[in-house]
Amino acid sequence: MPRKRASPVPIKRLKVENLRNIALADVVFGPQFNFIYGINGSGKSTLLEAIYMLARARSYRSNRFGSVVRQGEKQLQLFAETEHFQKHRIGLQKTSSQTKIRVDGNNIKRVSEIARITPLQIITPMSHEILDRGPEYRKRFIEWGVFHVEHNYFKCYQQFYKALRQRNALVKIGQTDIDSWNISVGELGERVNEYRESYVEALSVKFKEESEYLNPNSNYNLIWKAGWDRSKTLYEVLNGSVVSDIKRGFTQHGPQRGDMKIFEGNRCVEQTLSRGQQKMLIVTLHLAQASLYKERTGLSPIVIIDDLISELDLDNQKKVLDRLLDQACQVFITSIDNIQYIKPNLRKDFVISSGLIKAL
Ligand SMILES: Nc1ncnc2c1ncn2[C@@H]1O[C@H](COP(=O)(O)OP(=O)(O)OP(=O)(O)O)[C@@H](O)[C@H]1O
Ligand SMILES: [Mg+2]
Repeated sequence: MPRKRASPVPIKRLKVENLRNIALADVVFGPQFNFIYGINGSGKSTLLEAIYMLARARSYRSNRFGSVVRQGEKQLQLFAETEHFQKHRIGLQKTSSQTKIRVDGNNIKRVSEIARITPLQIITPMSHEILDRGPEYRKRFIEWGVFHVEHNYFKCYQQFYKALRQRNALVKIGQTDIDSWNISVGELGERVNEYRESYVEALSVKFKEESEYLNPNSNYNLIWKAGWDRSKTLYEVLNGSVVSDIKRGFTQHGPQRGDMKIFEGNRCVEQTLSRGQQKMLIVTLHLAQASLYKERTGLSPIVIIDDLISELDLDNQKKVLDRLLDQACQVFITSIDNIQYIKPNLRKDFVISSGLIKAL
């Protein structure tokens, strides 16, 4: 009888050198649930930070190299063996002056290349920023999805922002003769928005499906705001706002002002939901993204969850873990307390103490 092929492990092996309190670690993860336990300050979030840095070349907790490199050291190094669509070896070396990324032995210039091969959803206690901070946070969330499922989007996005920077530079110096820039920002902006709008439309369907399971008594709606008056073309809006843009010193309308709103009935959720309900809503959004990603690409993204699971009540914990299991995501979860719910054959447990990691 042919032997069943072992399922690929998206992040199979991780080596960490000089990241915060982790001097040296070499860890082999499981394909499904990876639970990381330890007391406060033991290094749980640091381990997740290492995974995140390998996927995005920066930390999700600090922009300062001095904060993330182990005190007294000048360089930090990370390495991972991954297998998502293909097997890869990713290396990252950071000093105060430079970041070197290598994939399969080749130097990589663009962070988008490692982001593409390690699609990562991250949920932390800071994730409620999606609800209660500025549109920037919600846009970034949507951008992740469009980037990963629409491979032509990134180029279009870059061209749009390049053209927008040019237009901004001209309105800043009071230039009124900018019709050619109104045309290019207008055209590229319409395209960027079309990608986003059709992504949010598909995401709304997944969001409803996930919500039925995770928030059964709710009736949430996702709405995308383009960033300009949609009864007109962006070109018309830009053309009509040259004088007031010059007064303000920047381009006031366009995809750079795009935003996602979440309503329950006719009320915006950030004003009405309890903290726990907000956390469930955030998880629902991420699971909807994971589900859409899987539908479009055939594989699930990697999910890292810092602390949040243990902040949910038991019933909600189970629902979230069940959905992650159904979607076959490789998951990394930090927690102070043991999370019992998942069966032994679907999990690997680690304990971390003063930066030293041990598989249980
Ligand atoms: N640059 C650094 N060099 C050395 N140690 C650091 C550095 N930055 C942070 N630390 C220490 O690393 C430890 C691990 O921090 P981390 O945030 O990973 O802990 P944690 O296990 O997630 O804790 P909590 O349960 O409170 O979230 C902390 O004790 C922190 O003081
Ligand atoms: Mg932590």
